[in-house]
Amino acid sequence: MKLIIAIIKPFKLDTVREALTPLGIQGLTASEVKGFGRQKGQTEIYRGAEYHVSFLPKVKLEIAVPDNLVDQTIEAICKSAHTGKIGDGKIFVIDLEKSVRIRTGETGDDAL
Ligand SMILES: Nc1ncnc2c1ncn2[C@@H]1O[C@H](COP(=O)(O)OP(=O)(O)OP(=O)(O)O)[C@@H](O)[C@H]1O
Ligand SMILES: [Mg+2]
Repeated sequence: MKLIIAIIKPFKLDTVREALTPLGIQGLTASEVKGFGRQKGQTEIYRGAEYHVSFLPKVKLEIAVPDNLVDQTIEAICKSAHTGKIGDGKIFVIDLEKSVRIRTGETGDDAL
């Protein structure tokens, strides 16, 4: 299992979710976060307003997936979150040691 963390532009959330649904992703967590990349948050446009601050609003997705869905998930996020402009975001992949579905006690892939 891997934990895929994707930082995306907030307006892309629905598009990315729609791209992930057909893959058989069972769950997803989305959080509103603030961050900056190489441009240090400058000269980026967010919803028409230019921000001259260090932190820009982003959405963080956390998706726990079985190993056989990792590549497809990354590809789907890349395609659906892409605008070609700065600030499109990043994807980080972390080894996921354990997962537990609290209601049933299932673990591993069965818990996803
Ligand atoms: N090295 C990093 N570690 C943690 N979070 C990061 C890192 N780089 C970027 N992020 C997160 O991703 C968001 C988007 O980053 P961004 O796409 O601007 O990266 P970039 O390297 O500047 O690429 P680009 O030149 O395309 O803008 C940031 O606001 C931040 O939340
Ligand atoms: Mg950037």
